[in-house]
Amino acid sequence: MLLVFGSINVDMAFDTEVLPRAAETVMGKGYRISPGGKGANQAHAARLDGSATTLVGAVGNDAMAEMALQALISAGVDLSHIQRLKGQTGCAAIVVDGQGENQIVVAPGVNLAARADLVPPEVLARANVLLLQMETDYSQNTALALRARQLGCPVVLNNAPAKPLGVDLLQALDVLIVNQPELTMTTQILGISANDPGVLVQTLSQRCSFSVVLTLGGQGLIACRPGEKPLMLPAMNVKVVDTTGAGDTFSGVFAAALARQQSFEQALMRGLVAAGLSCTRPGAQLAQPKAEDIDEALAAYQTLHRI
Ligand code: RIB
Repeated sequence: MLLVFGSINVDMAFDTEVLPRAAETVMGKGYRISPGGKGANQAHAARLDGSATTLVGAVGNDAMAEMALQALISAGVDLSHIQRLKGQTGCAAIVVDGQGENQIVVAPGVNLAARADLVPPEVLARANVLLLQMETDYSQNTALALRARQLGCPVVLNNAPAKPLGVDLLQALDVLIVNQPELTMTTQILGISANDPGVLVQTLSQRCSFSVVLTLGGQGLIACRPGEKPLMLPAMNVKVVDTTGAGDTFSGVFAAALARQQSFEQALMRGLVAAGLSCTRPGAQLAQPKAEDIDEALAAYQTLHRI
């Protein structure tokens, strides 16, 4: 079982030709209200790929809560430990331009009050992998990661949105997933620098004794396990409509594949292909592929790249 502790939001997404600059008003083409939040997106992606998935997080006591949980319920994510708190459900304002790039502002609402100590010991004991991101409180993530570590449950952290990582959390990790700005923040604090991203990823992995995955959008990813050479995987060639939540789709499908005992490389490829497919449709959870679509695209990807 994959256990995700993380944020649950409602996304309000606006399509425009260009992203607005400071003090600028741009006219949009339309808008969508749909479920989002990095934790919820990752749990949803994992479940659509066929993994038993439990999500722990918080929603408010407002009208947004049901909308935020709707797709998770339909997909069959275990929500029995969701906390329903007094306050607002998290909400994100997203602007998507003609190239599918986005800008996102998140009002976290009760996500920051989600408590990790409400993850029952028996649920944590059943987890094959714990997946975390950074839209919930840092200290809650750290406490849960340490509990998982003590039980021998691998911990995967997607440091998004990026926060400086302390020694406690770093020592509890098995895999760190970052994009380029998130990698820069993490390595600068540790005094690690290199011009070549592969060297940077390898040095971080070696120094911290965990695997590092650097996601590069349309260029694919670079990943490295401690003591090994970095591995570069190209992205799938797709017509991009909306990149919102592509990183979440990658993280959820990758972590779920690890939880199902797939190899590191197989899990990376599965996540990469799923993320590519999610960019071909608008939205976060509503754009995510099912297991059979990932299987088909993965076979084509492996044939094309002779992997
Ligand atoms: O990663 C995309 C997600 O970031 C959106 O769904 C939004 O809710 C924010 O959490």
